[in-house]
Amino acid sequence: MTTDTTLGKDRSFLFVLGSSRPEGNTEILARSAAEQLPAGVAQRWVDLARLPLPDFQDGRHETDVWQVGESEETLRLATLEATDIVIASPLYWYTLSAHTKRYLDYWSGWLAVPDLDFKARMAGRTLWGVTVMSDEDEAVADGMVTTLNNTAAYLRMRFGGVLFGNGSRPGQVRDDERASVRAKTFFQGETPIAQFPQVSR
Ligand SMILES: Cc1cc2nc3c(=O)[nH]c(=O)nc-3n(C[C@H](O)[C@H](O)[C@H](O)COP(=O)(O)O)c2cc1C
Repeated sequence: MTTDTTLGKDRSFLFVLGSSRPEGNTEILARSAAEQLPAGVAQRWVDLARLPLPDFQDGRHETDVWQVGESEETLRLATLEATDIVIASPLYWYTLSAHTKRYLDYWSGWLAVPDLDFKARMAGRTLWGVTVMSDEDEAVADGMVTTLNNTAAYLRMRFGGVLFGNGSRPGQVRDDERASVRAKTFFQGETPIAQFPQVSR
């Protein structure tokens, strides 16, 4: 299996924050993992609550020119500039928050932009997840893990997995020692090319 755990100066991380409250647990956990990145690795942080995207409208099969808004353009450029994209979403109803899901919906629009070559350009980059949930049982977040893994597989990206934390009130994740320990090495983990689950036919 091909993996790449080297974090050199050619890497640049885009952290996509998807909570619906500021300075929440997911951002705290993502920042504690990011503190461990080598100094030369670029970090960019975007908060989807501050870069509002309208609901995605599927115009992929229409001939009208899609009007690209300012937030969309900012996010599209930031996404294409990053070697590593970290989806930092609280667990909402066992999956991604609406903010982060909507951001991924826009990837479908970008896939259809002529000459953007979104799919080819995303291939080989790495997708990661960070989430905090109030449930103690991380297995309940399987839906989120599957969504991110399969998204990476579709785009032939690497997948670094999901860093889990536990907490409900803002700041509570700081009491989760296991999450703090895992955050220290999360970005040194293996990043195999993502594969869809094997389906027996
Ligand atoms: C709309 C909503 C849905 C939620 N759904 C779940 C859930 O399915 N499972 C769970 O364990 N916690 C759930 N929670 C709790 C949050 O995951 C938890 O409070 C988390 O710490 C929020 O992260 P944040 O501080 O980064 O926003 C939900 C919270 C909200 C507001």
